[in-house]
Amino acid sequence: MVKICCIGAGYVGGPTMAVIALKCPEIEVVVVDISEPRISGWNSDRLPIYEPGLDDVVKQCRGRNLFFSTEVHRHVGEADIVFVSVNTPTKTCGLGAGKAADLTYWESAARMIADVSRSDKNKIVVEKSTVPVKTAEAIEKILTHNSRGVKYQILSNPEFLAEGTAVKDLFSPDRVLIGGRETPEGREAVSALRNVYAHWVPEDRIIATNLWSAELSKLAANAFLAQRISSVNAVSALCEATGADVTEVAHSVGRDARIGPRFLTASVGFGGSCFQKDILNLVYICECYGLPEVAGYWREVIRINDYQKSRFVNRVVSSMFNTVAAKKIAVLGFAFKKDTGDTRETPAIDVCRGLLRDKAVVSIYDPQVTEEQVHRDLAMKQFDWDHPRHLQPLISPSDLANRVAVVHDAYEAAREAHAVCILTEWDEFRNLDYQRMFDAMHKPAFVFDGRNVVDPAKLREIGFVVYAIGKPL
Ligand code: NAD
Ligand code: UGA
Repeated sequence: MVKICCIGAGYVGGPTMAVIALKCPEIEVVVVDISEPRISGWNSDRLPIYEPGLDDVVKQCRGRNLFFSTEVHRHVGEADIVFVSVNTPTKTCGLGAGKAADLTYWESAARMIADVSRSDKNKIVVEKSTVPVKTAEAIEKILTHNSRGVKYQILSNPEFLAEGTAVKDLFSPDRVLIGGRETPEGREAVSALRNVYAHWVPEDRIIATNLWSAELSKLAANAFLAQRISSVNAVSALCEATGADVTEVAHSVGRDARIGPRFLTASVGFGGSCFQKDILNLVYICECYGLPEVAGYWREVIRINDYQKSRFVNRVVSSMFNTVAAKKIAVLGFAFKKDTGDTRETPAIDVCRGLLRDKAVVSIYDPQVTEEQVHRDLAMKQFDWDHPRHLQPLISPSDLANRVAVVHDAYEAAREAHAVCILTEWDEFRNLDYQRMFDAMHKPAFVFDGRNVVDPAKLREIGFVVYAIGKPL
């Protein structure tokens, strides 16, 4: 029986391993983490992350061949295949601050693997986290210099799931990518991992490459995806200036089979833990390899994203007679996209901070984000990647207490508000009773739709002043 251990029970480690356990009943899968609350969450009825369909998968195999544990050393020591799925955030200080990946968690996981591995068991170590190109070489060095007779093979197997659709993405991935050394031992390791995925992924969707191609493909894929959003968001600004409609333009452009229709939805900006972090990482790598033009090209993708978020805030303030001071603004949606409770790098943080800096009072509703989380996010020191020495000004504790409320439904948020800002495309926001909201708001009542979920014409009929991304005013 093969034993798999995954270090890191987060948004990737948890769902990925649950699906492997479900599809490979003869493999024992243990997910370990240093965070006690995370592990007890995975062992409870309320999983630590919200993902449609995940409860079902976990229920089917937890206790059978899927286990969650804080006994990191024991399970890593016993495993044949160790996935490393720890967080790899952007460095906030020192060399490369604001751009380079912080590999502290990665390196400590690698050193721990070397410490606890026994010489009677060779190991395949799989990079699941998104890492800079050539990280496998660094990990190989750490492991072989501390090997005490254990033979290691390092594979790169980046994850392409998106939050909110993780289970669906894992059940039928567009591709599974496995990078390995081009030696007999390397090929053997690739084939061992291929056999795991082959339980449910068609052979032609499992791609084998060299290590560096696999590592770079992950960064490139995220950069391409984010670039599409910045492209359509750049066009949305032009639409507003000219009277074109971004939905119509995106539809017409996307009908070209070479471009394709997906991932062309204009928005208040992309969020999520990875797009910005991975592009910054790519920018840093390009700079390190003496390719400033390539670095500059990708950096613009983030600049346009920042521009889109501040453009939205400016639009709110300027439309409301250039001041939002003491005005109540209902914020609908705080998660970085629908169907997740994740708020990492959500555009809602930047928009709320922008409104608070202009002295607004914000009332926030999101079906999956707790009050504690909103407060944590807004109070957090924010790193300015473009000027790494500066931190964005903090929202003071008294401002947080007096000017931020987190409420339990959209109507409560909108009661006596001057404006509604839609920042996440939750389905329920499409079907709200906007007449009821209008009746309870100050007039003129504004709607700023950052996700194009409402029909501006219908809302204008009710009496709202409507601004929607990339739509004629
Ligand atoms: P996460 O923060 O949700 O989870 C990481 C977990 O690793 C945490 O629970 C942390 O406690 C644990 N950890 C850190 N160091 C550890 C150690 N030494 N031993 C044991 N546990 C340790 O992160 P995530 O969103 O799951 O992302 C993980 C990686 O996957 C990142 O590199 C990310 O870029 C990549 N990725 C994420 C997504 C996504 O949708 N979130 C998708 C694809 C790839
Ligand atoms: C993204 C990628 O889609 C995954 O393939 C990748 O594995 C993952 O990053 C990662 O490496 O972490 P995720 O961030 O979970 O997944 O979600 P996306 O669906 O990509 O959305 C990211 C952001 O872009 C969200 O804020 C979303 O609202 C926004 N977006 C997306 C748009 O504004 N327009 C679109 O057309 C699509």
